[in-house]
Amino acid sequence: MYLYVLLYSIFAVATANSSSSSSSSPLSSASSAATTLQTWYNAETGLWDTCGWWNGANCMTALADLAMLVDESDPLRQTAEEVFNTTFVVAPSVNPDPGLEKVTVNGRPETRYPAAWPLRTHDIQESGTVNASAWLDGAYDDDGWWALAWIAAYDLTGVQDYLELAIGIFDEMTTVWPTNCGDGGIYWDHTRSYVNAISNELFFSVAAHLANRASNPADYLDWAQREWAWFQASGMINAQGTINDGLTADCKNNQQTVWSYNQGVVLGGLVELNRAAPNASYIEAATRIAKAAITALADSNKVIHESCEPNNCDANQTQFKGIFLRNLQMLQAVAPDDQFAAVIRACADSIWANDRNDANQLGVDWAGPVTKVDASTQSSALDALVAAVAIA
Ligand SMILES: *[C@@H]1O[C@H](CO)[C@@H](O)[C@H](O)[C@H]1NC(C)=O
Ligand SMILES: *[C@@H]1O[C@H](CO)[C@@H](O)[C@H](O)[C@H]1NC(C)=O
Ligand SMILES: *[C@@H]1O[C@H](CO)[C@@H](O)[C@H](O)[C@H]1NC(C)=O
Ligand SMILES: *[C@@H]1O[C@H](CO)[C@@H](O)[C@H](O)[C@H]1NC(C)=O
Ligand SMILES: *[C@@H]1O[C@H](CO)[C@@H](O)[C@H](O)[C@H]1NC(C)=O
Repeated sequence: MYLYVLLYSIFAVATANSSSSSSSSPLSSASSAATTLQTWYNAETGLWDTCGWWNGANCMTALADLAMLVDESDPLRQTAEEVFNTTFVVAPSVNPDPGLEKVTVNGRPETRYPAAWPLRTHDIQESGTVNASAWLDGAYDDDGWWALAWIAAYDLTGVQDYLELAIGIFDEMTTVWPTNCGDGGIYWDHTRSYVNAISNELFFSVAAHLANRASNPADYLDWAQREWAWFQASGMINAQGTINDGLTADCKNNQQTVWSYNQGVVLGGLVELNRAAPNASYIEAATRIAKAAITALADSNKVIHESCEPNNCDANQTQFKGIFLRNLQMLQAVAPDDQFAAVIRACADSIWANDRNDANQLGVDWAGPVTKVDASTQSSALDALVAAVAIA
């Protein structure tokens, strides 16, 4: 009898283990999706074919986040490190900045920084091999995505150059502070014509991340706190608790689309700020925004949607939802909430069940069916699958 129970429980454990590694486990789904994402990776450009420059930063972040969750011996770790090594060296040669001169030196493409660019005030060169200028393209949101991507790469590998690059990019972003709205904030791009949510959320999140990583944390903590104080008072957070796209020329909420990523980046920023300088108000604010976003963007099955779905999302908008899920998971890790967990699981399960083709390519409408696929829809969906692995 005793032996029977013992054997039975060994069998039960073995069964549980084998079922958790079957093709439908969160980790194996995410790994398959990452393998498919890499079919678009182009070692000549350091980016992912079929999607753009800033999307590439998000492809890299999704890969880094998944690599953090696998064993050190998992081939995905090696893949992620190879991507960092390659992208670090070659991606600046395809920087879309129209102001950069493209030249060929010893048969290799290089970019040259234009003397005429007024806002590029420093060349940060802290480690001798890192030149943040080559990553800047005049759109401060794009710069912020790359800073976060290199922080993710640093977190995985500990390679100091990656952190220095993120610091150099951020220091450049500080040169456009403040805007004409209130006494702070940054502009969307070098034309200084639009004050929007995403650039400010990214500025905030990068500063807060650096406050937990840089050797002079107080400087970055100060930037994060100033940006958060400004952002809260900016009017971009509406009466429903969600965040619109930006401000009008006279600094009022412009009532433009509540994009999912604008409900996301701020969450990760608040989590990192709370880690650097704990204050319950940060997590309370993040929780309010996350719940308001779910109310606004989830369907009755708890699957998150963008208002442009299913057929009208452009090549930027296809990226957004994964960013929300990635940051919701960061909040879930420090302030667990059954609703957040349910949304993460529902999105991941629905993507795998309803929004996937035979090649494990994943589309933009997570409720399905899968339509157009590219590295942007793939990496965005991968973010949701990775979030599900993290909470499993
Ligand atoms: C099942 O997984 C657990 C935890 O990962 C491990 O400790 C255990 O040895 C595994 N059992 C079998 C039979 O593989
Ligand atoms: C990445 O580059 C570093 C430094 O050159 C090297 O030590 C490492 O083995 C490389 N990793 C991979 C996966 O290629
Ligand atoms: C950094 O790169 C830019 C553009 O690629 C170049 O113009 C600049 O001289 C570099 N700065 C340093 C300190 O090497
Ligand atoms: C926490 O944040 C709140 C709201 O921003 C602020 O009023 C309070 O002074 C902060 N508490 C501490 C200990 O910093
Ligand atoms: C995507 O955003 C960039 C600015 O970051 C813009 O230049 C580009 O035109 C946008 N692409 C599409 C397809 O809207």
